Amino acid sequence: MEAQKQPVESWATDFDHTHPDWGQNAPAIWDELREGCPVAHTERFGGAWLPTRHEDIAAIARDTENYTSNGVVIGENRAEIAGAPMGYAPPITSDPPFHKIARRLLLPPFAPKAIEALEHYTREYCHELIDELVAADGAVDAAEGYSQNIPVRIIAKMLGLPETDGDKFRRFIHNVIEAPSADRVIPEEETMEYYLTGHIINRRQNPRSQEEGGDLIDYLVQADIEGMPLADEHVFGSIALLIIAGIDTTWSSIGAAIWHLAQNPQDLARLRDDPETRPFAIEEFLRFYAPVTMARIVAEDHDLGGCPAKRGDWLLLPFPAANRDPEMFEDADKFIIDRQSNRHAAFGLGIHRCLGSNLARMELSVALDVWVERIHEFELVDPESVRWSPGQIRGPKELPIRIGASVPRS
Ligand code: HEM
Repeated sequence: MEAQKQPVESWATDFDHTHPDWGQNAPAIWDELREGCPVAHTERFGGAWLPTRHEDIAAIARDTENYTSNGVVIGENRAEIAGAPMGYAPPITSDPPFHKIARRLLLPPFAPKAIEALEHYTREYCHELIDELVAADGAVDAAEGYSQNIPVRIIAKMLGLPETDGDKFRRFIHNVIEAPSADRVIPEEETMEYYLTGHIINRRQNPRSQEEGGDLIDYLVQADIEGMPLADEHVFGSIALLIIAGIDTTWSSIGAAIWHLAQNPQDLARLRDDPETRPFAIEEFLRFYAPVTMARIVAEDHDLGGCPAKRGDWLLLPFPAANRDPEMFEDADKFIIDRQSNRHAAFGLGIHRCLGSNLARMELSVALDVWVERIHEFELVDPESVRWSPGQIRGPKELPIRIGASVPRS
């Protein structure tokens, strides 16, 4: 059972992004702060800052001198600041100059051609999920039955992990992102370390090249930096990162898009009747419902927009708030399905910009293509019952819907 959250006295001086109210109302909170207190603060978590203007978020994301990525998820356990040559999950927790090396290693498996090769598999899987949803009688949960499954299945395939381990991945993510706490003790055999170490040892003992059908774990186990094999912590950290960064993020985007379409049947019809709109719609879903807020740790005392940022303070980088800034986007608070100019920050800004964006876009567009093709009418069972996850990855966690009209696969 998780601890009851203390009520938030003021979002400007006492914010708590892990509070359920943040999950339900974050866009209104960002708007209020942007107007009245563009850099909010809290004493919680040992002290943290929250900028909400696009300009500030972009500047901080690009400032690797004053901010380290050694801590990217705010928890009770603050990492040592002493630089993050690698951090616990490279490249996202690495600072320059090591960051570039760790990032470069991971680029090939996420390049457009490599991702295109997964599209057919993803489409087939989405159809399977829809078959199950329409076969169920009455209300179904579109998060549990659809959005949450897609990224889990695809990353398991890429990593060569059993497709049936999806529930384990979800538990690992919950422990890291949604409920990080120093007080919770997780039995060793239920940890991600224990699980992945077994698979890494197996790949070291039975190596396969990429030509022989090697997977992403084989790839990392055999990779080198200037002729030296990667440290065990590097291999583990990067795999853990791909599981954590690749799953909740994308399912939140797919879920938010379905939540939107359930309440805006005209947009559902537009996507079905006018497929040319779809690429614009994908970018607008990403902008408007951006799920990912990252954290940094202040590396040097400095002035942060008039606020005294102190070495060791946490800072949240709410890219979703940047996406709603009226200084950056015309009609920022409106969802415009065919918005033409859309330089959103959903995938971050600066050197850590999302490495999995080709994969994320592919999954989101295939998931929506198949949904729009098969489900012609659906509605939320009860808008009040939709629960948005709070914390650094925000998206609809429970999404009960009722399907009115669907068609078989053509
Ligand atoms: C809609 C889905 C996604 C969103 C919105 C998203 C968002 C982000 C953001 C905002 C960052 C920047 C982090 C920072 O500044 O600290 C990031 C980094 C990253 N993402 Fe994603 N992500 C998504 C999907 C994925 C997927 C599917 C993968 C791979 C399986 C992935 C892998 C990564 C990695 C490895 C990084 C670190 C890059 C670096 O440090 O150089 N992401 N993502």
